[in-house]
Order: sequence, then structure tokens, then C-alpha cells
Amino acid sequence: MNELSTIAEDGGDIVILDQTKLPRETTYQRLKTLADAAHAIRSMQVRGAPLIGATAAYGVALGLREGKPLDEILATLAATRPTAVNLHWALERMRRVLEKSALAERLPRAWEEARAIAREDREANAAIGRHGLAVLEAIVERKGAVSVMTHCNAGWLATVAHGTALAPIYAAHAAGLAVHVWVSETRPRNQGRLTAWELAQSQVPHTFIADNAAGLLMMQGKVDVVIVGADRIAANGDTANKVGTYLKALAAHAHEVPFYVAAPVSTIDFACPNGAQIPIEERAAEEFGELHTPVANPAFDITPAALISGIITERGIVAANELLRLKP
Ligand code: MRU
Repeated sequence: MNELSTIAEDGGDIVILDQTKLPRETTYQRLKTLADAAHAIRSMQVRGAPLIGATAAYGVALGLREGKPLDEILATLAATRPTAVNLHWALERMRRVLEKSALAERLPRAWEEARAIAREDREANAAIGRHGLAVLEAIVERKGAVSVMTHCNAGWLATVAHGTALAPIYAAHAAGLAVHVWVSETRPRNQGRLTAWELAQSQVPHTFIADNAAGLLMMQGKVDVVIVGADRIAANGDTANKVGTYLKALAAHAHEVPFYVAAPVSTIDFACPNGAQIPIEERAAEEFGELHTPVANPAFDITPAALISGIITERGIVAANELLRLKP
């Protein structure tokens, strides 16, 4: 496992970087069983839509190695987190491939397909970086530098490699462009700390802010563009992402700041007509710490397609209302 890896095969098991310990500690966890994989996803040791998908795919192989029935494996993993569609996309892909395989072939076939899912995620995100770079280059050409705001963590930690929303930023930094990132804290789980940690590892200039500072910074003209990731994009372009994304999109719209979503095509749910149909995960009250009061903790929100300037995919930048062009 290299320093910038979230997931890797090791001696027949899977090893993951435990994100619940970051940024305090860099700790790895060995996943040997289906239960280990399901726990890693549910407890958010791994998180971020593409990485959840890849972990679930490897979880299928671990479950088959234990001799568990395929239906039970798929049902266990599908129940871990509801919003990120990459989970269901990866499980459906594993089901299709495995149901066609002879029983004796299923285990090697499962490893092979999980590896393909991981490899394709890496490649898709690198392509997202290249397409998104053009957006940042255009701003640098006009202004000499670019200040990007993001939300949550949609960097390499949330994927197999490169990240989605952060991929264009890494590409810009590598190309020598003057790029700065506003990193919002992302209450209650503080995924912004993961983003700040990631950017610091790569020496990308960034500034950490409270979530509620985003509107003021846009009003003051300190944000040139917003780029966020996605957990599920409906066929009409409405996008579920970490709670707080919608408020940033509203502020961006009010201040005429372009607002992009960066995601692989595997995050588009063509079977889901609009954002109202996307299931929103409700997480535990304990994420707020000790509170003796009723709590609501929706983990995602929906940004309507009309607030999105474009969706940066591995196949190029597409208008949010033209996603059907990408349908496989
Ligand atoms: O609850 P999380 O941390 O899994 O949520 C992550 C996000 O909302 C990301 O923005 C999204 O999954 C895209 S990750 C490339």
C-alpha cells in the first residue's frame, strides 16, 4: 500500500486506510471477511461514493471466499449506506458478472471484476482531472490565479485514486497554476479536515473555513468557482452530495459564481428521475457529540440541476440537463 492509497489487495485480503482515525493517525485496517467490509463502509472507515463502490466490490469477493451465498453477500453490502449510488452500481455489476459464471469460477471472477472496478475508478478520476483542468485554466488566464471552494472530501481519500472534485485541483497544481482552495469544515463529521490533510500532503495552498463562512466569501468575490463531488446524480441532473452542498449552490447562484459537480458516470443513476427520489441517509445523533435534545442528522442534500453550471465526468463536461447523452 503506498502512501496515497485508500484500498489495496494484500496477501489475499484487502487493506484500507482507516479514515475514522485521520488526520490524527495514519492507520490501516485489514478486511478479511464480508462482515469486515460491511463494517468498514457503515462505520465510514472508508467513505466517499467511488471508494464505497470499490470496497463493496472487494467485499463480494471476501464473502464468496467465506462460502456465503451470493444473494446474502449482495444484500448485506447493499444495506450499509443508502445514498451513494456507486455502492449499488458496483453490486449490480458484480451480480451480473457472477450470475453468468460457473460456481467454481465465481471467486476468481469476483476478484477480477473488483480489480477492474478499482482500476476504472482510477482512470475515470484522472480523466475528470484533465477535463476539469480546462475550467481552472480559463479562470487563470483571465485572473492570473484561481480560488476554488469545495465541500466535504471528494479527494483521493474518497476514491481509489485522484479524487473527483479535487482531481482538477491536483491537475492544476501539477501544471504550475496558482490555485488556492477554500475547504469547508463539513459538520458534523468534519470531512473538510480530510480535505485539508490531503491538500497539505500535496502542498496545495488552502484555507480552512467554517461551513457558514461560505456565503460571505462568495459575496466578497473571494471564490472564483465551486467544485463538489456527488453521491448520486438523478437522470435530470439533480445531485445528492454531502449536506451543506445545496446552501453553497444557492450562494454561488446569488453571486454568479460557477458551480460544478465532478463525478464519474458510475455516480449517475439513470433509473432515478429526479432528486426527490434519492434516498437521504439519516445518521446517528451521536455524530453531534453528547446532546440531550431531539436531533435530525440528514447526511446529504439535493442540489437542483438548475443551480449546476456543469457536471465534470470522465467523458467530458456535460450540462446537468443533458445527462441522458451519457447513458450506457
Ligand atoms: O458521507 P461521506 O463522507 O461518504 O460523503 C462523501 C461525499 O459527500 C462526497 O462528496 C461524495 O461521496 C463524492 S466523493 C468523490
